[in-house]
Amino acid sequence: MNIPDLRVDIGGLNLENPVMTASGTFGYAREFESYIDLNRLGGIIVKGLSLLPAKGNPPPRIVETACGMLNAIGLENVGIDAFLRDKLPFLARLRPPVIANIYGKTVDEYAQLAGRLESADAVKGIEVNISCPNVKQGGWFSVRIRGLPPRWCAPCAGKPPNT
Ligand SMILES: Cc1cc2nc3c(=O)[nH]c(=O)nc-3n(C[C@H](O)[C@H](O)[C@H](O)COP(=O)(O)O)c2cc1C
Repeated sequence: MNIPDLRVDIGGLNLENPVMTASGTFGYAREFESYIDLNRLGGIIVKGLSLLPAKGNPPPRIVETACGMLNAIGLENVGIDAFLRDKLPFLARLRPPVIANIYGKTVDEYAQLAGRLESADAVKGIEVNISCPNVKQGGWFSVRIRGLPPRWCAPCAGKPPNT
């Protein structure tokens, strides 16, 4: 039987296959190690990270509905320091590349988060969350800059914004 070649290249990041975990649905991966072989994933995107730990919304924050489920987690996360210290060492031992998802309230917070991750060899990519319907600041957090969202990539990549 021919095994299809599922490899994909996303901006220079090579994945064995295109199956990735949607941020926030897979914690920091270790929570799922008894359910699936984590090494079979194409990439692991972790829960959205902020500069400080965040508790998220008070419960109830997940309900089952007839057609699926509704959630309003509110971006609970351990914060960047605890992620780098406590979560990343486990992720670094896995085969799939780790992509860190980040969110902040200002462009500077995004840049700080990206800067912290840049020195973490095990993090191969950064996914920038620019909106979340489940937090008070809503669709666009409180970041207000002229221009289109892709420009936010510039401060995160350590380059001057193209504005
Ligand atoms: C429980 C839950 C938590 C989520 N947490 C985050 C998060 O922390 N950061 C983020 O960028 N997206 C988060 N999302 C959004 C998912 O990563 C994903 O974008 C969303 O489920 C839509 O996926 P789709 O575009 O494949 O339908 C969350 C989604 C769910 C259901």
